[in-house]
Amino acid sequence: MTKKEQLYEGKAKKVFKTDDPEFLIVSYKDDATAFNGLKKGTIAGKGVINNKMSNRLMERLEKSGIPTHYVEEINDRETIVKKVSIVPLEVIIRNIAAGSFSKRYGVEEGFVFETPTIEFSYKNDELGDPLMNAYHAIAMKLATPEEIETIKKYAFAVNEELKKFWSGCGVTLVDFKLEFGKLSDGTVVLADEISPDTCRLWDSKTNEKLDKDRFRRDMGGVEDAYAEIMKRLNEHI
Ligand code: TMP
Repeated sequence: MTKKEQLYEGKAKKVFKTDDPEFLIVSYKDDATAFNGLKKGTIAGKGVINNKMSNRLMERLEKSGIPTHYVEEINDRETIVKKVSIVPLEVIIRNIAAGSFSKRYGVEEGFVFETPTIEFSYKNDELGDPLMNAYHAIAMKLATPEEIETIKKYAFAVNEELKKFWSGCGVTLVDFKLEFGKLSDGTVVLADEISPDTCRLWDSKTNEKLDKDRFRRDMGGVEDAYAEIMKRLNEHI
């Protein structure tokens, strides 16, 4: 497959057309942003780690019956994916309170939930990705009721698979954000990425943060944390 012109540049990835209209190439950058782009920086080596981690996890999810956009890793930073139209919802699953949940509801970070939770936010940078419920999403025609049901089912299934996998690596899956897309025939598949940018991952013994919160919160040791979490994945995949 041949890489053609750039279609889009996001905060952490570029997307290119290919000679086949059903496939795109994503290219992962080392650029990092937080707080809707207000905070900017670079995390050396992040693009390679996020590309490989996302691909290994999506291969695993595919095996467990969850369809994804993943097709083939072509080099350290670039991957062929199926072209989808993104459902403009950020789908967040939480197992443990942290981040915006802790802030919004006054719950101490680290509080273990009785059951996993799901929430949606409207993918709209100008509005700062506001929280949105499923009724709002359906009312605004962002997704049909059937698509919302499929997305919920897949998101919780992803949680079970990833919790199990990370637990074997000595890592607690605190929360994560997913995005879904629709193929040209309307099939809903998992899209975007699964990486330390989009998940909270804590060392199971020490609760040390091994994810992008180190960048968001100026904690230092960002590159080391990304390298450590990738090492754990490589030892257990
Ligand atoms: P939050 O606690 O800030 O709402 O974040 C929940 C999860 O979503 C966390 O794992 C980080 C991830 N996330 C993204 O992937 N992109 C974003 O823009 C934000 C705000 C969070």
